[in-house]
Formats: sequence, C-alpha cells, structure tokens
Amino acid sequence: MLYFGGHSLGLQPKSAAGMVEQELGDWRRLGVLGHHDAARPWIPYHERAAPGLAELVGGLVNEVVAMNSLTVNLHLMMVSFFRPDATRNKVLIESSAFPSDRYAVVSQLEFHGLDAARHLIEMKPRAGERTLRTEDLIERIEREGSALALVLLPGVQYLTGQSLDIEPLIEAGRRAGAMVGLDLAHAIGNTPMRLHDWNCDFAVWCSYKYLNAGPGAVGGCFVHERYGHDDERPRFAGWWGHNQAERFLYDPTFDPIAGAQGWQISNPPILSTAPLLASLEIFQRAGMPALRKKSMALTGFMQRLIEHRLPGLVDIITPAHAQERGCQLSLAIARPAAEAKRCQLKLTAQGLVGDWREPDVLRLAPIPLYNSFADVFAAVDLLTAALRVP
Ligand SMILES: Cc1ncc(COP(=O)(O)O)c(C=O)c1O
Repeated sequence: MLYFGGHSLGLQPKSAAGMVEQELGDWRRLGVLGHHDAARPWIPYHERAAPGLAELVGGLVNEVVAMNSLTVNLHLMMVSFFRPDATRNKVLIESSAFPSDRYAVVSQLEFHGLDAARHLIEMKPRAGERTLRTEDLIERIEREGSALALVLLPGVQYLTGQSLDIEPLIEAGRRAGAMVGLDLAHAIGNTPMRLHDWNCDFAVWCSYKYLNAGPGAVGGCFVHERYGHDDERPRFAGWWGHNQAERFLYDPTFDPIAGAQGWQISNPPILSTAPLLASLEIFQRAGMPALRKKSMALTGFMQRLIEHRLPGLVDIITPAHAQERGCQLSLAIARPAAEAKRCQLKLTAQGLVGDWREPDVLRLAPIPLYNSFADVFAAVDLLTAALRVP
C-alpha cells in the first residue's frame, strides 16, 4: 500500500501496541490499584504527554494538556475565551472552516443569544484564488476592531493544506482586543510552532492525524500561561481540573490547577492516551527540525513531479512555497467531477491511499516519519497512469 492518508489518520507506531498492552496487563493484574501502582500510574498518566506536546506546539509544559477530543476542547475554550458583550461580540473564522468548528462556533453564538448572520465573519479567498492572504485577514481584523471578540483560525487549513502565517495574525487579533484561538488538527506534528512566543490565547488539536495516536485518540489543548492563574474567568469545571493535592478530599468548592490542566474535566482515558505516549516518544527522538526538513524535501519532490508529469491535468491548490504549507498537497483534478471521482476510486483500488474532498480535491500527504521518496515517485506514477488513461 502507498499510504498518503496521514493528514487524516496517521499510521500506527510500532511501540503503540506494547504501550496499550502494558496498561491492559496492569489493569488485569492490579485493578483499581493501577491508579497508583501501574508501571505508569494512571492518576497522573496524562502528564506524561505534556513535555512532548509542549515541544510540538512551542509552549511551556504547564500550557498544554492531553484531554478530550478536538471539538469538545474547542467548546471548553470558547466557554472561557469567547465572552461576548453588547459591543464586542463577533467571531472571525475562514469560510471553509472544518464543519465541526463552524457548528461549534455557531452553537456558541446561539448559546449567547447571538445570530450567526450578524456575528459570524467568514473570510473567503479573493475571487479566482483558493487560499487566504494574511494581509486580507489582518485588514478585516483591524476593520472589525472593537466588535471582534474571537478570531479562530487553523494552523494548517484542512482542505487546501495552506499553513497560515500565524504570528502576525495573532498580533493583529490581540491588538484589536480579541482573543485568538487556533485549530491545530492539521498542524501539530506537521509544522513547527511557537504558540507561547506568538502569544496565542488558546489552541486545540486532535492526535490521530500527524501525531499518529490512533483513531479517536485523546486530543489536546494549549492555554497561554497568562491565564494559568486566572481563576475568575468562567470555565466548565470537573474534578480532574481540581487541585491534585486535594482531589480526593472531595472538597465541594472547585480550586483549579494552575495552567492548562485546570481545564480538565474527567479522568484521562488511559487506553487512548497510551498510543499518544508511544508516538510522542518517536517525535522526541526524531525532533521536529529534522522531520520538517525531510517533509519539505518530500512534499517539494511530489510537487515537482506532478508539475512536470501532469501539466494541465492537476492544479496544485496548496501554496507553492514550502514555508506556506505542511506535508499535504491538495490536487484539484481538472476533469469533470464524475470522471475525477472515478480516477480517485481507481487509485484507491491500486493501493494509493489519499482522500477525496468534494467537488474536485484529492489530498495526499507525504509523511516524513514513514513515507520515502520512492513512495512519492510510485504514487505520482499511479496518478499519472490514472489521469492519462481515462
Ligand atoms: C480541521 C479539523 N477540525 C476539527 C476536526 C474535528 O475533530 P474531532 O472529531 O476530534 O472533534 C477535524 C477532524 O478531522 C479537523 O480536521
């Protein structure tokens, strides 16, 4: 199989099964005692993910936490960081935001008695273009100014593979007095980030794409240090966010842990966190700088092969510059929709795994951890054969 679907579901680390089996074994042997006596005790289990996650997003260890899944975390973050009032009550997103993000934002607006038609700003690319321009986003943020409560943007756009120039966007949002949040579903483990230095307010992610933590794996969250002790800010609380030293004293009054951990609600899902630990260990060993270097070379190689072999048949809608994208290339197939879809089905039958987004986009992601240059060459060979022969 030629696997180019890591932007959707990353492949299984060889060490993942052992990590899960360890927890199953400790549960079998120890039952409830595993909370303290497992080889990796379960009560602080999620904390083992924090150093690796912090490194990947460029945050401090106490600014990150592994918990829940992406959309749930987005809601929890908006509860705390989308606090509209009579004048500052708009949210800016991109027009092709992942639907779950849009549903979450619209439902939060409605929860506050606001109407998406008036309070949701959806930024579109310019006419004839498929990706967003930083200057257009900044201009709109500045124009909305004091009406803007939240700017929510992707680190890497899921459909086009565009990696936004995040730092100036965060700066513009914060200058306008808005909160700035990021959806890092397609960025974490893919592009290097410095969320702390960039002053990002919050970010959320899933771990099943570039992080290779498995289907439905535990997601994560970044909350900037400046909110770490902000106990007055509303949040939805649960016992796992309560001061660890007193968690089992069952005090009825909530006392949040300082930092991102204070946003936890429930005890961590050990079986879905175990593969994340396996995966993070690999990222720490390989290092993001080396992975990014290979990624840029691999994706650049795929880009050049496609441009050379399929001129006019495929339009690469992902930005052409390596700095403006991650691993993924999104290919608009210049064929009638039904025919393009048939090509995609044929490629899947031949063992090339990517994915299709209506109406015309084939997404392929060469992943530096497990794809080779030979894989890329073979994938473009199959693509060429599928598109040249109707
Ligand atoms: C960009 C983006 N945001 C949000 C989600 C939703 O993730 P979850 O089901 O973990 O909430 C996805 C899922 O693929 C995604 O790609």
